[in-house]
Amino acid sequence: MIGGSHSSLLAPVAVLLLAGAAAGQSSEYERAQIVAERKPVMGDLQDNYWVLFNVNKGDSEDFAAAAAAAREMSALMTRFVSLLEPGTSRGEAPGSRAKPEVWSEPETFASAVETFQEATAAMAAAAATGDRETYMGEFESFTGACTACHGLRPSSGGMFRFAKGE
Ligand code: HEC
Repeated sequence: MIGGSHSSLLAPVAVLLLAGAAAGQSSEYERAQIVAERKPVMGDLQDNYWVLFNVNKGDSEDFAAAAAAAREMSALMTRFVSLLEPGTSRGEAPGSRAKPEVWSEPETFASAVETFQEATAAMAAAAATGDRETYMGEFESFTGACTACHGLRPSSGGMFRFAKGE
């Protein structure tokens, strides 16, 4: 098997990406598949965000669920980043709203990802205290780590995502 024993550890899309790289370029169909796979990952990020949001608002007291949601969001971001194959910005891959800056400004993008990952860790820790004030203090900067890339409304744009209809 190509890649030896390590290949069994790779997710199907990673295998697809490697195959695409070896062939020079992935087909439009493959690029559309990657976008179709990564968008629900961001959707899951959104679902977890509501768990945190509802605790912040006072609609929920489930701090343990909020801590778990923050940790889950970190894993989801890692998965999302692994699906950012070059050639999948808007206009290059059907369905994509990713801006070319994701790839043309890799350091800015990587730093936004890192800030987000640090924010998920800080948010999980704040939630685990069960203290509302600590929680609310952290939630604001946590939300700021999302909006560094794009606005919270699904139709909104930002540094790394085109607004709907933009
Ligand atoms: C490091 C940058 C970055 C961060 C941080 C980030 N996103 Fe995203 N998000 C993106 C990009 C890029 C896209 C566009 C993906 C595409 O169209 O292929 C996107 C798309 C989305 C979408 C639309 C998915 C779809 O079906 O089209 C949702 C919802 C979303 N993000 C929610 C969130 C939430 C909630 C947070 C914070 C808790 C967040 N994002 C943090 C970069 C980011």
